[in-house]
Amino acid sequence: MTLTPPTFHDRLLSLGLARVSEAAALASAKLVGRGDEKAADQAAVDAMRNQLNMLDIKGVVVIGEGERDEAPMLFIGEEVGTGDGPEVDIALDPLEGTTLTAKDFPNALTVIAMAPRGTLLHAPDIYMDKLAIGPGYAPGVVTMDMSPSDRVRALAEARGCDPSDITVCVLERPRHEAMIDDLRSTGAAIRLIMDGDVAGVIHCAEPEVTGIDMYMGSGGAPEGVLAAAALKCMGGQMYGKLLFNNQDEIARARRAGIEDLDRVYALNDMVRGDVIFAATGVTDGSVVHGIRREPGWLTTETLLMRSKTGSLRRMSYRTPA
Ligand code: FBP
Repeated sequence: MTLTPPTFHDRLLSLGLARVSEAAALASAKLVGRGDEKAADQAAVDAMRNQLNMLDIKGVVVIGEGERDEAPMLFIGEEVGTGDGPEVDIALDPLEGTTLTAKDFPNALTVIAMAPRGTLLHAPDIYMDKLAIGPGYAPGVVTMDMSPSDRVRALAEARGCDPSDITVCVLERPRHEAMIDDLRSTGAAIRLIMDGDVAGVIHCAEPEVTGIDMYMGSGGAPEGVLAAAALKCMGGQMYGKLLFNNQDEIARARRAGIEDLDRVYALNDMVRGDVIFAATGVTDGSVVHGIRREPGWLTTETLLMRSKTGSLRRMSYRTPA
């Protein structure tokens, strides 16, 4: 028997979700470039939670600020919303790129996704190995089994270009050095980012705008699910595999309901049904502008998308500072 993925009536909720990500971005605005990651994160968390609790949903945070004993707010399992409305899973990152915000580096975002209850992967706060490409390719053109250089060659062949015309986005980390060496052996270009792999993955969906064809490497598993939600709306392929460093991480995964520790999750395994996704720019990026400050005013840009319709809105919002 094939199960139809659940859907939900989300036209009005979409706008509500955009307000939630806007509120978090506005709250962190005054902390951009102030060198205080914690304060920026806290401001975004408080604002996101307040705004989220005004939405008419029976929401449960499945990707949040951490487990109940380590995060006082927006912890995994926290019930959010007025309790009057559809049962939904909420995945969020009130400030994706706390260091980027503190240093006023590009691509800090506030991010939230909403989906029918039980349809988002409950990823523990551990690392995930990620691979993503944009739309327009045959399924499985690149896979987790391939080496990084083979992925570049396969993508180049599918695109009908030379491997040196491919640009791969990678988090700059010592753990990625061998992968970077292998990628460089193909002649491909590498866009190294300091932080923010949700934006890194989203970049693949609009290669003509961002210049990025493929994302790969390890980063936070919660960010992996958020990135999958975005890509489900924009089109593209993504794979993720949880990486375990110790028994505690295995225990976290078990608590989150994960049985097969070696599973490679495709995009539709991480986001099993309909999803809406909102992200607001905090600092400037290739996907959305950061917050603009003018005397007396603040302006945000929000990307708001629904997978069911494939709709993508870029919304500008001006408010008194
Ligand atoms: P924070 O905003 O929580 O600091 O996360 C930023 C981030 O770069 C994520 O985008 C990424 O998934 C993760 O950190 C990578 O983790 P690490 O810094 O340990 O490599």
